Amino acid sequence: MSVTVKDLQAYKREGRRFAMLTAYDFTTARILDEAGVPVILVGDSLGMTMLGYPDTLAVTVEEMLHHTRAVRRGVANALVVGDMPFMSYHASIEDAIRNAGRFLKDGGANAVKLEGAGRVVEMTQRLTDMGIPVMAHLGLTPQFVNQFGGFKVQGKSDEAAERIERDALALQEAGAFSLVLEGIPADLGRRITSVMQIPTIGIGAGIGCDAQVLVIQDMLGLSGEKVPKFVKRFADLRGEITRAVGEYIEEVEAGNFPGPEHSYGMGAAAATEAVGEGAIYGAARMAPAAKPVKVVRAAR
Ligand code: KIV
Repeated sequence: MSVTVKDLQAYKREGRRFAMLTAYDFTTARILDEAGVPVILVGDSLGMTMLGYPDTLAVTVEEMLHHTRAVRRGVANALVVGDMPFMSYHASIEDAIRNAGRFLKDGGANAVKLEGAGRVVEMTQRLTDMGIPVMAHLGLTPQFVNQFGGFKVQGKSDEAAERIERDALALQEAGAFSLVLEGIPADLGRRITSVMQIPTIGIGAGIGCDAQVLVIQDMLGLSGEKVPKFVKRFADLRGEITRAVGEYIEEVEAGNFPGPEHSYGMGAAAATEAVGEGAIYGAARMAPAAKPVKVVRAAR
């Protein structure tokens, strides 16, 4: 059964915590979905993780849709949320509606995420009125990096904390189905969570949130050496990939790969030999609807 926005709200009522992760490609999305991640965010963090930009500001709607479609193709159960990039919903409500609609129509997302409050409150209301579920996002919202003067923890003073809490309630009132809280003190994360009826999803917002989200590269240890304090590395895939690639280079250079078990034969016994279990390349082999591509040599 696919996860819906209503399920997440039921989790909140039941006090059931849940995990969200980012994904930007078919292969990763499929692994996360099969592992049971209920919510997959195609974050505009792909600007950094996939495209090598210094921040999220340069990411375009087209880039987001390209990755959202790939994730959609890999997901059977999780709720897929598409992140609306900087300036795709800021100029006008019409822009917000048109671009948010594309995430559902062209990208196959189930919902969109918008950063900030102010005019975003009204946009949230208009989008939800039109059947586009909105995940809100407050605190250290990366699209405001220039306004914040860097990636700095938000909501530290009483006044700033109260503003974030007021904004959270306004976004809930406008119809947001969940709220990401990023880079705020843990006490504030807990306080806001306690007054909200929709689930809060924390990233650097402490254990008091209803759910947690991490960027997949960070939690798998694929990012660089330095990661923010809120990141826990659950694996060291960077190390593992480096080791595996090193071994591959060595085996190729030494003439040890491919071995006989990776090579095709000739003659009658090999006449009906298929390329492999599925299709020619690994990623295609994982495709849900992929039909095995058999390369059969004619017997002579
Ligand atoms: O872009 C992103 O990945 C995000 C999450 C970190 C919440 O907004």
